Amino acid sequence: MKRIPFGTSGQEVSAVALGCMRIAALAPAQVDVLVDAALEEGVDFFDHADIYGGGRCEEVFGDALARRPSLRGRMWIQSKVGIRKDYFDFSKEYILEAVDSSLKRLRTDRLDSLLLHRPDALVEPEEVAEAFTTLEKSGKVRFFGISNQNPAQIELLAKTVPQRLHANQLQLGPAYSPMIDAGLHVNMVDAASVVHDGGILDYCRLKEITIQPWSPFQYGFFKGVFLGSPEYPELNREIDALAKSRRVAPSAIVVAWLLRHPARFQPVVGTADPSHLRELCGATSVELSRPEWYAVWRAAGNTLP
Ligand SMILES: NC(=O)c1ccc[n+]([C@@H]2O[C@H](COP(=O)([O-])OP(=O)(O)OC[C@H]3O[C@@H](n4cnc5c(N)ncnc54)[C@H](OP(=O)(O)O)[C@@H]3O)[C@@H](O)[C@H]2O)c1
Repeated sequence: MKRIPFGTSGQEVSAVALGCMRIAALAPAQVDVLVDAALEEGVDFFDHADIYGGGRCEEVFGDALARRPSLRGRMWIQSKVGIRKDYFDFSKEYILEAVDSSLKRLRTDRLDSLLLHRPDALVEPEEVAEAFTTLEKSGKVRFFGISNQNPAQIELLAKTVPQRLHANQLQLGPAYSPMIDAGLHVNMVDAASVVHDGGILDYCRLKEITIQPWSPFQYGFFKGVFLGSPEYPELNREIDALAKSRRVAPSAIVVAWLLRHPARFQPVVGTADPSHLRELCGATSVELSRPEWYAVWRAAGNTLP
């Protein structure tokens, strides 16, 4: 597995991260097999959030660590905080309380990284700064980041928060690419020209913040997986042809499409199936050419000006 820098932390992480949002219902043995498959493929970065499965996802992962504690040293564990039932909460009190609960469920004494999950309209950067400083000093969290935030929101935090923000997790994949589309339609008046994110892609490149594309196989907002979907015949044709020519699974082409971008994305894949995980890791043997990269983007229904 290729490794990439985690922001400006000086640490290298696996270019593919395993998202653990869908593991709540797995039996213990299934979690073990999934974790083993990930580690064998060199995917040692595991993404969690306090809310996944109502805490159950962290719990089943923590149980796996309790069964084999020696694995902890081989893993980068990330969690997220800030989404509560019916509102978002970046208050100091809640951040501290939620991290303690995550650590307890994960059966570990530290998170390698913590992200603020979704922007809180009532954010007070001073409170975030105090929470992050407490977590850093106690050794409970090593590195920090955000998720679903635009450049102005990040600047607002960065003015007060002393810790560097190393990663920004955002939805991105061949069938959901507004941050790429807008950059190709600058100064046009068509729908693709609308900047939905304040120019987050170029901002993150400038600041060396790692973008972690979430839900790379989905279209819309949790509408479904586009692979094999009749909603995306052209995209599937293009991906299948590339997969055939490179002798990898179509899912590997999707991940290769993200890894080809010079921003050095870290896709967060959410499969709970070890064989799917192994297949998509075939991405690291594929280097898409510039025409191939654009062909996938166009096949998703996008047009160049
Ligand atoms: N920051 C945020 O706001 C945010 C939001 C959502 C998610 N996330 C993170 O992103 C991660 C990924 O999200 P996601 O699960 O929606 O992403 P995804 O990787 O796009 O989708 C995973 C789903 O696709 C299915 N799938 C079907 N065929 C597949 C194939 N050939 N290869 C791989 N998967 C296939 C998987 O089923 P099988 O299990 O059967 O393979 C699984 O249900 C989450 O676990 C979470 O960590 C973050």
